[in-house]
Amino acid sequence: MTLTGKRILLGVTGGIAAYKAASLVRALVKSGCDVRVAMTEAATRFVTPVTMQALAGQTVWTDLWDPRIADNMSHIELSRDRDLVLVVPASADFLAKIALGLADDLLATLVLARRCGLMVAPAMNVEMWDNPATQRNLRTLREDGVVFAGPAAGDQACGETGMGRMLEPEQILAEVEAWFQPKLLAGKRVLVTAGPTEEPIDPVRVITNSSSGKMGFAVARAAREAGASVTLISGPVALATPEGVARVNVRSAQQMFNEVKAALEGSDIFISVAAVADWKLKKPFDKKIKKSSGLAPVLEFEENPDILAWVASRKNAPFCVGFAAESEKVEENAKAKRAKKGVPLIAANLAQEALGADDNALTLFDARGKHSLGRGPKLEQARKLLAHVAGMLQKAKR
Ligand code: C5P
Repeated sequence: MTLTGKRILLGVTGGIAAYKAASLVRALVKSGCDVRVAMTEAATRFVTPVTMQALAGQTVWTDLWDPRIADNMSHIELSRDRDLVLVVPASADFLAKIALGLADDLLATLVLARRCGLMVAPAMNVEMWDNPATQRNLRTLREDGVVFAGPAAGDQACGETGMGRMLEPEQILAEVEAWFQPKLLAGKRVLVTAGPTEEPIDPVRVITNSSSGKMGFAVARAAREAGASVTLISGPVALATPEGVARVNVRSAQQMFNEVKAALEGSDIFISVAAVADWKLKKPFDKKIKKSSGLAPVLEFEENPDILAWVASRKNAPFCVGFAAESEKVEENAKAKRAKKGVPLIAANLAQEALGADDNALTLFDARGKHSLGRGPKLEQARKLLAHVAGMLQKAKR
């Protein structure tokens, strides 16, 4: 249970997505959270307090004037012992209210009186989301440090399509888990490469590999969650940029090399997850190769720059982490790679298991030896890898 003992005040506001808050309560409780629920009057019209009470296993609060709290200070007490206030769904009206600091019902009052963080999962019609008034409120709330879980674009309950659809409960749960990650890399600057590269053969053909970019994107996301400022240099992949990460898109190894050089200054950590092509064509054809000649084309190759080895060999190099995707003899190859590239840490995996998959099983090799990270989702593996990196940096300081 990843959220064991975390104390959450779950605020529910009025919107059709309120029914999803019930599944979220269940998931949070299952993850080990203590979930106290406060609902607006409108929310109780969509889902009953009895439902929420049964799922949370504790009293649900709806009324600013609830006499059950002896000194009538419920608006302060109910959020004071919490680690996070989470509002799901957060309606346009409620966001407007808290952007202004109004406190005319129990939930808005608890939000205003809290000492902990606030995360909101907005849900509203696309026109309401796009309305300049809502956008203005969102800017204000972001400036105030409010964290947003979503929304996403998609089909809406009103029949329209667009931005404003609430994230699914499991996605909100993932955002909550991310929020609670220890800030092990606060103040650090992390540079990550991810995905494959593409080496042109002619104007329409390329040499590439089947790296999906998932591991590198997970590393970038985990570094951001750990409090780092993150730049992600990515080859061509179909993945969304993790929240708060600066992304630079490239195609070839040479372009990736150029962007790494440009972004390197000031980086504390360089994590080279990209599956960089080792070879490129000496001279790509400037016109599309035609089949009609009847002759198989002859391709002449030359080596690409080794980006990781170049970064690691620099004076004042950042802490470098290499990846080794091997098809056999993982340990032997990873150790050899660590020495050859001159990096303190190599994360190794079996290429046939890791490429494109959602899970991974990394083994780390450093000066102290071998450390298995077990098997699990790539984001989980990335978090463990970064915890190891933070530990190594901490030890190096002593
Ligand atoms: O030598 P090999 O390609 O197996 O090494 C893998 C590691 O080196 C990965 O971290 C990869 O990102 C990095 N690499 C690189 N530039 C290359 C080739 C690999 O940075 N041209």
